[in-house]
Amino acid sequence: MTSPAFSANSVPPVAPLTADELAHAESLDAEGLVRFGLERYGPRIAIASSFGLEDVVLIDLAARTGLPFRVFTLDTGRLNQETYDIIDRVRNRYEVDIEILFPDPSEVEPMVREHGPNLFYDSIELRKRCCQVRKVAPLGRVLVTLDAWMTGLRRDQNTTRTSVPKAEVEPGTGRMKLSPLADWSWDAVWAFVRENRVPYNVLHDRGYPSIGCGPCTRAVAAGEDLRAGRWWWENPETKECGLHSR
Ligand code: ADX
Ligand code: SF4
Repeated sequence: MTSPAFSANSVPPVAPLTADELAHAESLDAEGLVRFGLERYGPRIAIASSFGLEDVVLIDLAARTGLPFRVFTLDTGRLNQETYDIIDRVRNRYEVDIEILFPDPSEVEPMVREHGPNLFYDSIELRKRCCQVRKVAPLGRVLVTLDAWMTGLRRDQNTTRTSVPKAEVEPGTGRMKLSPLADWSWDAVWAFVRENRVPYNVLHDRGYPSIGCGPCTRAVAAGEDLRAGRWWWENPETKECGLHSR
């Protein structure tokens, strides 16, 4: 397991990349960019993992570098059992501590008391509020310990993601966001997983290309969009939960 000494407190903050370094980062392949991020930021960078297919690839790439690395996940309290199962398999296979962040009960309890446990089906506003409380707020708590984070975003996931860069400085915070798989196709992700026997969420074999919370994700039919099963009652333009506001 990752050593407790490998924490954000063990090193001073690391500066954002310069314009030249950003261009260099953009030119790297996925493995190169993961290594670059870990070498440059050490414990001040972490992989954001929902344990979907892209995220297990990122973890495998990080493990290949032989460098220590951090992984965090936002446990909304509404995940599928299959997602907890893959968290366990990844912990054991890669011997990495998973930093699990939970929502603040003092925010969840009044929300659920007022609107019920299934509020997300009632309106887009309430769906976004649930994502804010269960995902975005806990994300904020981990991001303050980081100067950079790594995500499994890919350009062909959704109409909202077609221009995702591999490396960007987030406006406002100056924090680096690396998305090493930004230019990978879905087939390339699967090919990597198969070739390298990367453990993955069994829901992917049951028609779930994209996996979020249990009540907000369903299987897709052949030919449907990869994210058609996420918040399937909403339009593609609103299908973001606030983790990746652009
Ligand atoms: S979401 O915004 O619609 O939920 P999606 O499921 O496509 O995002 O995942 C995109 C990336 O966001 C993942 O590759 C991962 O880096 C990050 N991410 C999404 N959900 C979580 C989560 N629960 N915990 C940590 N990171 C997450
Ligand atoms: Fe809530 Fe659904 Fe968002 Fe999960 S995906 S935080 S259950 S609205």
